Amino acid sequence: MTTPADETNPDAPATDAPATRKVPVELGLRAYEVLIGHGVLKQLGALMEERGLQGPFTVITDYRGDHARREVWEKILFEDGVDYPTLDVPPGEASKSLEAYARLMSELAQRKVPRSGTIIALGGGVMGDLAGFVAASYLRGIAFVQVPTTLLAMVDSSVGGKTGVNLPEGKNLVGAFYQPKLVVADLGTLRTLPGREFSAGLAEVIKYGAIASEGLFDRVAAGVTVEDEDLAEIIETCVAIKAGIVVEDEFETGTQRALLNFGHTIGHAIERATGYTTYLHGEAIALGMRAAAWLSVWQLGLLEEEAKRIELALSANGLPLELKPEVDRGAILAALGNDKKVGSDGKNRWVLLKELGVAESGWEIEEDLVEKAIGLLYTP
Ligand SMILES: NC(=O)c1ccc[n+]([C@@H]2O[C@H](COP(=O)([O-])OP(=O)(O)OC[C@H]3O[C@@H](n4cnc5c(N)ncnc54)[C@H](O)[C@@H]3O)[C@@H](O)[C@H]2O)c1
Ligand SMILES: [Zn+2]
Repeated sequence: MTTPADETNPDAPATDAPATRKVPVELGLRAYEVLIGHGVLKQLGALMEERGLQGPFTVITDYRGDHARREVWEKILFEDGVDYPTLDVPPGEASKSLEAYARLMSELAQRKVPRSGTIIALGGGVMGDLAGFVAASYLRGIAFVQVPTTLLAMVDSSVGGKTGVNLPEGKNLVGAFYQPKLVVADLGTLRTLPGREFSAGLAEVIKYGAIASEGLFDRVAAGVTVEDEDLAEIIETCVAIKAGIVVEDEFETGTQRALLNFGHTIGHAIERATGYTTYLHGEAIALGMRAAAWLSVWQLGLLEEEAKRIELALSANGLPLELKPEVDRGAILAALGNDKKVGSDGKNRWVLLKELGVAESGWEIEEDLVEKAIGLLYTP
């Protein structure tokens, strides 16, 4: 990987600091930048002003009930003395609901937030998706800024413009493509992230390596921790891969964006089959990538050795390779049939690897092979 900038001085101004890495998302009129670095949130006001974003600014976040996080974050969030009006949401996936959405809309209306205002989504993917959808639809759309604070949100959900909430009938069934005006990923916020959540984010990093960059794959296969000096560079590489795909296929009408679903067909089925309570998203995706790697061997001639490298990369980053024995394999198979992304013919379309770093979407796979891959997840 190349190192476009050195990130050693957290006190330098964010705008031209070598410490801050910038990835452009070149979407024409909807173009924006993803800024990644230590201490970059301290310049948020200036960064928003440079981009013509106006107040009133409203933060939507789930951190304020967490005292430990509050103590650490209040030293790193925003310029000294700046205290943006804030709307609090309880943490957890349950907040990605129509009820939370309706409450936030009403609160914005009661506060008379005008169309010229800006929403700041501060938190993980749940806050980004929820606050992003609020921004997409309040007064038919007001500006918003993503401030991702989980590794998963930094490398994945804050970039690309998918916003939305869940229905009782299923995840992400309501939403909009709505791009932020700016994404600011401050690595300082990761200091409070539980290790299990960090590992779950690394599953998506392994995914980017597997589908698009063998160099990134090799780096993450060695194991990544929150203290690693090249963490900003790793995040930058992931964001650049995602941005490249999103620019090609903003509204997921082509085949490019589907590549991001490597490991997600079985991963989503595992999440559905276990009621979203047993595994974090990244953990389910890790299992799905193990299965998809072997499907790639059987269907597309991926070298066995490369499937084994994927397994080693997952375990080196604290991710599961095996399903808990109590998870019902029939339920996973049934859940595969209910994937939101099945084709109009009701068949799953799979993303497979030709080699490490090269993926292909749109594969159909015979059911007995899929069963064999799921069976593999019950073995070491
Ligand atoms: N829009 C997209 O393109 C996209 C892509 C992938 C995932 N998603 C969505 O993202 C969501 C998952 O995101 P997530 O994994 O970030 O979960 P999350 O937002 O629920 O965060 C996980 C937990 O960590 C807490 N947290 C967040 N940052 C923290 C920090 N720095 N320190 C301590 N605790 C912290 C949160 O309060 C929460 O309890 C799902 O709803 C998924 O559907 C969206
Ligand atoms: Zn994912």
